[in-house]
Amino acid sequence: MTEVSVTKDAAPAADPLVVLDNVNKHFGALHVLQDIDLTIARGEVVVVIGPSGSGKSTLCRTINRLETIDSGSITIDGKPLPAEGRELARLRADVGMVFQSFNLFAHKTVLENVLLGQLKVRRTEKKLAEEKARALLDRVGVANQADKYPAQLSGGQQQRVAIARALAMDPKVMLFDEPTSALDPEMINEVLEVMQQLARDGMTMVVVTHEMGFARSAANRVVFMSDGRIVEEAQPDQFFSNPRSDRAKDFLSKILHH
Ligand SMILES: Nc1ncnc2c1ncn2[C@@H]1O[C@H](COP(=O)(O)OP(=O)(O)O)[C@@H](O)[C@H]1O
Ligand SMILES: [Mg+2]
Repeated sequence: MTEVSVTKDAAPAADPLVVLDNVNKHFGALHVLQDIDLTIARGEVVVVIGPSGSGKSTLCRTINRLETIDSGSITIDGKPLPAEGRELARLRADVGMVFQSFNLFAHKTVLENVLLGQLKVRRTEKKLAEEKARALLDRVGVANQADKYPAQLSGGQQQRVAIARALAMDPKVMLFDEPTSALDPEMINEVLEVMQQLARDGMTMVVVTHEMGFARSAANRVVFMSDGRIVEEAQPDQFFSNPRSDRAKDFLSKILHH
């Protein structure tokens, strides 16, 4: 674990971008999200941590409506999430998502992966879209891989392409669900560095991760989930040095001393 102690100032809560208000969701008998209230300010970086099965992925997936909710509301930029159709496609573009398992289109080249959404959802003109795709691939450090297929790249390179693909849509917010969990250890940092840079550039980000070094250096706020609830939230320094709840203490002792 890297120890970096640069803490960003807390973003002003005055400019909310993503607002979850009393959100509840069940999977059958399982109450997977319980009374979730969470407001993410524009430009804020929120790291979500918690034990496996606590609902972190489900929380992310509700924000771009990969999962519906049973009650409560979710708004982005003041607007409720659209239910279907072109509006929903646009929402998915506004909310970039990066998964543990890259999820690139296997039969498209790297460049095509970053082009597709721009052409189909944003209806960007081809030449502009390609310029933008190449610039983004350069930004994440894989410009020279543009004509290869995903399987020809390392996991770390594929994940950086996945980030470029999401960024190509000019998202309002980026969700990362354990983006480095499937990577070999030597590739974790190259992905975290791209995410760090994105955070510094002011992107609004929700990041589910066990990388505590990233949380300490990039997050404005840490949200700790357990059993479908937000149990605790605090600035990273405060959370790591002085967790208040027993569940957070227990969780931290397990991941910090494993
Ligand atoms: N589609 C689904 N159907 C039924 N149960 C699910 C589904 N997705 C997740 N779950 C359950 O919901 C709980 C929370 O899952 P998840 O959000 O993936 O947690 P986390 O990401 O924190 O590990 C787990 O008990 C999981 O088994
Ligand atoms: Mg998960």
